[in-house]
Amino acid sequence: MKLVNCVSFFVFSQTFHHVSALPAFAENVDMHAPVPLDAFKKTSPVAGRTAEIGGHHIPIEHWATLMKDSLLDGFAESKRPKKRSTFDPVAQLIDVHGDHEFIMPNFTAGDVRGPCPGLNTLSNHNYLPRNGIASIAQYIEATQKVWNMGPDISTILAVYGTVFGGNILSLNPGVSIGGMSSSANPEQILDNAGGLLGEVRGLSGTHNTFEVDGSNTRNDRYDPIGNVDDTNMTYFGRLFDKQKDAEVPNYTLDVMFEYAIDRWYQDISYNPNFIYLPWSGWFVRNAAIIFSGELFGNHSEEYPDGILTKEALKSIYGVSGPDDNMVYTKGSDRIPENYYKRPELFLFMDGAKDLVTYTILKYPQLFSIGGNTNGVNTFTGLDFADITGGAFNAANLLEGNNALCFAFQFVKEASPNMLSSLYATIGPILETLTEALDVIFLSLDCPAYKDLSVNGTDLFSYFNATYPGAALTNGAM
Ligand SMILES: *[C@@H]1O[C@H](CO)[C@@H](O)[C@H](O)[C@H]1NC(C)=O
Ligand SMILES: *[C@@H]1O[C@H](CO)[C@@H](O)[C@H](O)[C@H]1NC(C)=O
Ligand SMILES: *[C@@H]1O[C@H](CO)[C@@H](O)[C@H](O)[C@H]1NC(C)=O
Ligand SMILES: *[C@@H]1O[C@H](CO)[C@@H](O)[C@H](O)[C@H]1NC(C)=O
Ligand SMILES: *[C@@H]1O[C@H](CO)[C@@H](O)[C@H](O)[C@H]1NC(C)=O
Ligand SMILES: *[C@@H]1O[C@H](CO)[C@@H](O)[C@H](O)[C@H]1NC(C)=O
Repeated sequence: MKLVNCVSFFVFSQTFHHVSALPAFAENVDMHAPVPLDAFKKTSPVAGRTAEIGGHHIPIEHWATLMKDSLLDGFAESKRPKKRSTFDPVAQLIDVHGDHEFIMPNFTAGDVRGPCPGLNTLSNHNYLPRNGIASIAQYIEATQKVWNMGPDISTILAVYGTVFGGNILSLNPGVSIGGMSSSANPEQILDNAGGLLGEVRGLSGTHNTFEVDGSNTRNDRYDPIGNVDDTNMTYFGRLFDKQKDAEVPNYTLDVMFEYAIDRWYQDISYNPNFIYLPWSGWFVRNAAIIFSGELFGNHSEEYPDGILTKEALKSIYGVSGPDDNMVYTKGSDRIPENYYKRPELFLFMDGAKDLVTYTILKYPQLFSIGGNTNGVNTFTGLDFADITGGAFNAANLLEGNNALCFAFQFVKEASPNMLSSLYATIGPILETLTEALDVIFLSLDCPAYKDLSVNGTDLFSYFNATYPGAALTNGAM
């Protein structure tokens, strides 16, 4: 599911914004280098000791420091007591007139759109250039203006997106795709970097690092269809039907999850390779759903927490037509007229609260981990009680931030395996990631733990050996 991808996209921008206050970062980054809207799904991994940003090579250690500062700031911000925001029609109104009028992309002319409706709307309204190729600075400005996502969330996802997208050395992959010269390729970045970089490993697939199963509106990569880019109208229709006949249709987070649980069961009966692991499944899949419920609503005076109507939902997802004959038009994702964004940033702790509420308390199935083991309808969940690792067990998993700690711990332990399929040299990258994760563990007051395992097998290898969907990509998180 590419929503995740699009989430990473936002968060990239947000991170850049967040850290761009740091002079060292600003010095090293070309904020105006072009990046196409679909860049992050096209990136190829490269390896070595520097990160290329906007044509400049930044030592990874430096990048790690920036990330760490950024994370710390972000967490500090999320812990600040919140004041109740009042409706500000001027600040919250999303301008869709004049310069920001909706215009369809022209794919024949080479316009680019990504898999994320939120980002596509930005280009269709000229918040990002209409051709879908924007500079980092433009991404920053546009996503900031329209979505109000907290920098702490974005930083976490950015670390993840950067590292697991194979982007650590090519944080600005659009440069390689080269101001649209179609022949440019990642190998050229390697050449540019001379002897510093290691050999490129083939990207075995970003499934379950970027794409996860069970999106509310997209197919899975390894289901019988495999088109992860477009809105699947079967899925969209089922989501839509949840409020179709409601007195005041409102696609709230409640509704998004009412559908998310249906879709979860449907996927088990449809995709033989369905998997749902602690990070890609529980955390990332549901985070994307939370963002749709929290960010896409119309936040007005009457509805400070937002209302997402039928027409607005259709519009943002590129769907038109009467309720009983809806049509998806690729590239038509559109911000409705007279639309007001959320009044304040959506921060990590807000998201964490939603995640716990909807997956653990409300739909505990969504806190499963497992997958189909032998074709459809063979979902086998792993009992949390079977996981050993000291601090975590079925009893205390729900205490404090333990569930989140568990997901991040799994990322930490699965990283060497996942990264070795992306990069030839993982040492410095792993260090970066570990440093960033340690900040998270500290912020969440995570307990100390031993490595997670099942019957003496580490959790990553256990999943890879147990679930075909994980083995398809040589392991998944
Ligand atoms: C789209 O671009 C093509 C090629 O540049 C051009 O011929 C066509 O007129 C454009 N279509 C629209 C609707 O602007
Ligand atoms: C959408 O999903 C349904 C149900 O899984 C599937 O049968 C259908 O082929 C998909 N449609 C497209 C266009 O991918
Ligand atoms: C829509 O849902 C939001 C969030 O639950 C709520 O605050 C708002 O009042 C709802 N609007 C309507 C019209 O029910
Ligand atoms: C958004 O809310 C405002 C204020 O209630 C309202 O005037 C406007 O029509 C709404 N926009 C949409 C697209 O529903
Ligand atoms: C652990 O090993 C025992 C003994 O071989 C086996 O019965 C059990 O199913 C295994 N547990 C898991 C979760 O694989
Ligand atoms: C994952 O499982 C496959 C097939 O069972 C195996 O070939 C591969 O080596 C495993 N990968 C890892 C990273 O353990």
